[in-house]
Amino acid sequence: MTGICREGPEARRACMAREGRKRLYFIVAMGCQMNVRDSETLAGMLEEMGFSRAGTREDADLILYLTCCVRENAENKALGNVIWLKELKKIKPDLVICVGGCMMQVQGVAESLIARYPFIALIFGTHNLHRFPELLCRVLEEKRPVAEILDGDGDIVEGLPVKRGSAHSAFVNVMYGCDNFCSYCIVPYVRGRERSRSPEEILREVRGLVEGGTQEVVLLGQNVNSYGGGGNAFAALLRSVHETGIRRIRFMTSHPKDLSAELIACYGDLPNLAGHLHLPVQAGSDRVLAAMNRRYTREHYLKLVEKLRGVRPDVGLTTDIIVGFPGETRQDFRETLSLVREVGYDAAFTFIYSPRAGTGAYGLPDPVSMEEKTEWIEELIALQREITGRVLKAQIGSCQEVLADAPSARDPGWLGGKTGRGLMVNFPGAPDMIGRFVQVDIGSAGRNTLRGKVREEG
Ligand code: 5AD
Ligand code: SF4
Repeated sequence: MTGICREGPEARRACMAREGRKRLYFIVAMGCQMNVRDSETLAGMLEEMGFSRAGTREDADLILYLTCCVRENAENKALGNVIWLKELKKIKPDLVICVGGCMMQVQGVAESLIARYPFIALIFGTHNLHRFPELLCRVLEEKRPVAEILDGDGDIVEGLPVKRGSAHSAFVNVMYGCDNFCSYCIVPYVRGRERSRSPEEILREVRGLVEGGTQEVVLLGQNVNSYGGGGNAFAALLRSVHETGIRRIRFMTSHPKDLSAELIACYGDLPNLAGHLHLPVQAGSDRVLAAMNRRYTREHYLKLVEKLRGVRPDVGLTTDIIVGFPGETRQDFRETLSLVREVGYDAAFTFIYSPRAGTGAYGLPDPVSMEEKTEWIEELIALQREITGRVLKAQIGSCQEVLADAPSARDPGWLGGKTGRGLMVNFPGAPDMIGRFVQVDIGSAGRNTLRGKVREEG
């Protein structure tokens, strides 16, 4: 290890200055919002070291992949990308390739990447993000690959730099890790045990964001309901965040077994808490829920939905569903369909079960064929599409408060944004509206988005 890199940002900038010209970075964050937030920290570190963001991957001198391992196809995608980089490296021999994220924490993966892909300059995991600048300096100075994966739970390191992807909507970590060990899920093995940030640190960050003009925060954790050890702690945090005056608060993800009465009450009391809840159900059959180690029943879940709608009738619910868990029968799956009908989700993220080595369900007898599972998921997607269509149609004629987010990719002169409920709305608007709340009269509904017109002010 070189001494220079230990001495903080100034020394690291000097290390970069010796590299000569301005260098460009490009980060690809795969998987969930946690990785997106991690990518913002890594971008902050890189900029502190003197790097600038590249417009495209091809322009970059340093490409960083933050991998996901939650399902096998996410892993395959990550590997596919790394192999593609091998070709790029042939054309650009000085390209620095870095790979981090959850997949690196899986037993044996980092070792196998090092052995098979010597062109990767730096491999790091989820627990040593804060050490990235030091590790990168080593790569640049010693001109050889470096790999560092820490086992166990990473400490919470405060005060790291951040280069946020949006000026008006910010991800704020509230906790890391997961203790739930759902039997299909690899996250507890790669993100470690639950650790919560202190309310003081979170509130300091949110206050800073409010002062800087941020309109919306998204509080992030694998299971925010067990923030601070569970109980009322997350509801109390939400109330304090609300007091900062931030215009819109979102959070994810909630585990139904820990969704407290106090948290539900927040939906009645806190007007700036967005009218949306992402509440992964995973399955509609009690038998499958038990095998998944979810520790709630269908009835409990439906009761939560009822209570929530009791305090916020127009709350929008979204969910995650796994189809084809080992031993799931057609009858179990029918119960998932009926639950989806009963709840009437705004949207559902649906996945075919993917066996993950080391998890509780790995190796369980799984007699249903992939063809049949594919038919099931298609049936589920078709049902959800129908329900989403109904939800969107019901908004026509209403006026919605939308946070204008970005220019529409499809329609020049149009902007896109989300309602409090999380529904996407496109409307004609000038770029100077981006980052502002606008009142939009909803005129029509597409498959996944609403269209409308900004109400004239005054
Ligand atoms: N197979 C399929 N889907 C999975 N998820 C997590 N692990 C698996 C797996 N092994 C899904 C769950 C979770 C979402 C983030 O990913 O639905 O809520
Ligand atoms: Fe995985 Fe369950 Fe933890 Fe969510 S709550 S990250 S599904 S183990």
